[in-house]
Amino acid sequence: MYAKVVLVACSMLLFVAGDARAQNKAAAAAHADMGASRAVAVLLPTGQNKVSGVVFFDKKGDTVNVSGKISGLTPGMHGFHVHQFGDITGLTDGMSAGGHFNPENKPHGKPEDKERHVGDLGNIKAGDDGVATIDIKDSMLDLGGAHSILGRSLVVHANPDKFTQPVGDAGGRVAVGVIGLAGPPKQ
Ligand code: CU
Ligand code: ZN
Repeated sequence: MYAKVVLVACSMLLFVAGDARAQNKAAAAAHADMGASRAVAVLLPTGQNKVSGVVFFDKKGDTVNVSGKISGLTPGMHGFHVHQFGDITGLTDGMSAGGHFNPENKPHGKPEDKERHVGDLGNIKAGDDGVATIDIKDSMLDLGGAHSILGRSLVVHANPDKFTQPVGDAGGRVAVGVIGLAGPPKQ
């Protein structure tokens, strides 16, 4: 009698657990298909550099709005790209972030080019105060699917991206940050 009750209780538990697993799986699949709506990168300085900042990525329809502030830069233009790996263990020079995020094996390009690395965001411009305010709209980046930048890294370079091959000759990496999921914006 006891054994039977325990057996029934156990099978009910298994049923409930199985149902929860199925729901989690469905939620994960939906998440993978639709992608996220917001991501963030907290930029850390490499080596002896003093560059830092916070950059948000907001998905709006087919566009991703890239916005934020980066400080500690030398005045002028700095190459600005999404790189392949979200690995910033090599914080002396940022090289562990790998090359430009280029899932379709295209040449390096300008942000407005149809043929470019997905990660090619061109240049940001710092004022005399060393601060760059970023406001970019890009329709090649995504927060889900093959062009997803989640788990990759954002890199700021010492020099301007000159749009030469293979990677724009933008010099060293002065700041790097992992691109991760963000919660909804604070009002
Ligand atoms: Cu770069
Ligand atoms: Zn590139």
